[in-house]
Order: sequence, then C-alpha cells, then structure tokens
Amino acid sequence: MNVLIIGSGAREHALCWAAAKSSRVTAVFVAPGNGGTELMGGNVHNVALKATAIDDLLEFARQNAVELTIVGSEQPLELGIVDLFRNAGAKIVGPTRAAARLESSKVFSKEFMVRHGIPTAACQVFRDATAANTFIKQPQTSYPQVIKASGLCAGKGVFIALNQEDALRAVADIFENRIFGHAGDEVVIEEFLQGLEASVFVLTDGVKYRLFLPAQDHKRIGDGDTGKNTGGMGAYAPASLVTPVVMRKVEELIIQPTLKGMAQEGYAYTGFLYVGLMIDNGEPSVVEYNARLGDPETQVVLPLLKSDFIAALQASIDGALDEVPFEMHQKSAATVVIASDGYPDDYETGKSLTIPTDVASMDESYLFHAGTLISAGQLVTAGGRVLSVTALGDTLRESIDRAYRVVEKISFEGAYYRTDIGAKGL
Ligand code: AMP
Ligand code: GLY
Repeated sequence: MNVLIIGSGAREHALCWAAAKSSRVTAVFVAPGNGGTELMGGNVHNVALKATAIDDLLEFARQNAVELTIVGSEQPLELGIVDLFRNAGAKIVGPTRAAARLESSKVFSKEFMVRHGIPTAACQVFRDATAANTFIKQPQTSYPQVIKASGLCAGKGVFIALNQEDALRAVADIFENRIFGHAGDEVVIEEFLQGLEASVFVLTDGVKYRLFLPAQDHKRIGDGDTGKNTGGMGAYAPASLVTPVVMRKVEELIIQPTLKGMAQEGYAYTGFLYVGLMIDNGEPSVVEYNARLGDPETQVVLPLLKSDFIAALQASIDGALDEVPFEMHQKSAATVVIASDGYPDDYETGKSLTIPTDVASMDESYLFHAGTLISAGQLVTAGGRVLSVTALGDTLRESIDRAYRVVEKISFEGAYYRTDIGAKGL
C-alpha cells in the first residue's frame, strides 16, 4: 500500500518513520517533507507540494495509487482536506472541517465543552474591543486572566495577562492591531487554571477510540520553563502525573463525552484528537483540543507504540479499532528539540549541519528533522525548530541521558536546546 503524509515537521518525519516500518506499506510519500525525510531514502519520497495545496494533494494521491493519507498539521484540516478526500472516495485520517473546529475555533470548542459539561476554564466570548475592555476593567475581574484569539495562530494566540494593563494590550493587539488577522475576529477570555499540564492523544473512528501514552511538552524556550512560549522544546512519555486514576477520569469526563457530543451534534470526530490538560490535585480539565497529533509529543508517543501504526489507522477508517492490537513498549521516551538561536522570534537559516554517521546507529535513538533541507547536496537549517532527538530507555532517566548524548554530537552555528527536558518527570 502507498501512504501519503502531509506536513514538514519532526512530527511528520516520525509519521514517515512509523509508516515506513509497517509491513503493509510499499511507498511513503511526504508533502512537502524536509531534509530528514529526503535522507530516509528507500521507499520514502518527498513530494514538492505544500500542505495547504489540498486539490493538488488529492490529484497526487489519485495518480500515485495512494490508499491512505495522514494529515500532520492543522491548516489543511481547517481547509477541509478530509471532506475533499472523502467526497472523492479517498481514505484519509483526520477530522472533517466541521469537526476540526475543536481546534480551529476556540469559541466553538469552549461552547461545545459548556454544552456537554466537559471540565474546562470558565470563559466569556467577545466580538469587539469595547465589550472586552468593559469586562477587563470591571472591579470584580481578578488576574491573571487568559486571553485567546479564537482562530488558528500557529501556537501564538494565547496571552496570560497578569494585570489589567496586559489584558488591555492583548485585546488591542488582537482587535485593533489585527495581529492575527481574521483569526482574531473573536476573543475568549478565560479563568487562569492552576496545576500541571499534560497531553493525551486519541485515535478514533468517531465512536471507538484507542489511547497513546500520555506525554508532557515543554512549551517555554528556557530552562525551568522560563521565557517565551514556543511550539514545544521537548517532550517525554509516559507522563507519570497522568496516573491510571487520572487517565480514567480523562476518559470518562472528557474523551467519551467529547466523542459522543460531536457525533450527536452531527459532526462525528475522526482521526487524532489531542487533549491538552491541566491537572490540579488529580482533577483534569481541558486547556485546549487540537485536531491532530502534537509536535514534539509525536516524537515520543510514536516510538513507544509497539503495534503496527498503519494497521491501526486502517482500522480507524474501517470502524474496526477494537479489532487491532494497540500495544505500547514498556519503556520511556524523551525528545529534545534543537532550535535556531533566536527562535521563537527571528533566527537565521541556511547554516550547515553535520550529523556524525554513528548517530544513526545509536541504540534506541531517533533523529527526527524539522526545519532542515538539502541544498546543493548539503544539509542546512531551514526553520526555527531544526531537529528533534528522541531516545528510548528502560527508565525516563535513561531515555533523557541517551537523548542528550546524541544532542551533544550534533552541531550547527547557533544551535540552541533546553538542558532540562524530562526533569519534571523524574
Ligand atoms: P494553548 O495554545 O491554548 O495550548 O495555550 C498555550 C499555553 O498557555 C498552554 O499550554 C498553557 O500553558 C497556557 N494556558 C492556556 N490556557 C490556560 C488557562 N486557562 N490557564 C492557565 N494556563 C493556560
Ligand atoms: N506541542 C504542542 C502542539 O503540538 O500544539
């Protein structure tokens, strides 16, 4: 079977790796892919099509006998790639445009959670600056408050306002300075939740579901969770704060009502569901949903999946998720992101990257590329997050130490990484 993977990050490199090792797969196409997927060689091929060129992607899938398409990133989902492929009779893993609103519209997702009694921060929705400012200035509004643009903002649409002044500035930036364009047409202002964050990933056919191991991301740029928010600087799994008791609550109070509610409202949710959680004294609530797998969390949860990934995806399309194995390795995994100096703000690209040949053969470690490309035969940096170095271990400590041993062998001008990935889990 031929498989098409859409996206260009380390998440998509990990998806390619998992697909390429499935006994069911003949060829893996990745659009557009990156330097790392190009270097995979063998049955993995980069395709020069953007993730948002959904009509061209369908045409490519038809011409190349693609039998399964996997969407990595959120933009094609919001554009309706799943609806387009399904209407053409092509098999694809992901939610429809209407179902992907769990991520693409925070107003939709918050109102959905309220309708179905799913635990989440209390919130209010605003459609203009005047109403938002009136709320912000009310004496009974206490701080911090969390201010979110409703639409897709590539992870940048959330402001934690510590005081009234921060809040007024965030609202002005979104509504008046239009820093997120139409993604800022609506704003959610919500209660600040205390607790520890973790994410749970679900594969679902709309009714039945299977769970990956819970993971913890490291969103801030600096050690000790300091500095700006990023797309994610590293992750580990399993996240021990999601105990079996917490996981049961997450299933009963969040996952099951979410799938049931979406189906009842006429847009059954299919594909991967990312549930971003805040856990406070063992009680989980939803910080956000995403309509896809996380990056960098995929780089730890996929290597921990023992069963055939592609078989599980096919089963999810055939409504047979309960008929396939979905087993995990009894191990831990850690991934460390190596970024370009300056990220998440401005950074330089085009730096040549050398990866020692012994890295590829190191025990239970995987090098997933993000912002890299091959230019005139040389591997160079091409993005903010450049590489994601994953290692497995019998313990979390072992996986972290292994990952950092690989990280230390890799260099390029301006390489930056956090030195405390996974420390919170020890
Ligand atoms: P999001 O893009 O919604 O995941 O938000 C980015 C980050 O902001 C989250 O990972 C949290 O660390 C933080 N955050 C978002 N909403 C809240 C909230 N209601 N309370 C506390 N922190 C939040
Ligand atoms: N790691 C956060 C995300 O994928 O949204």
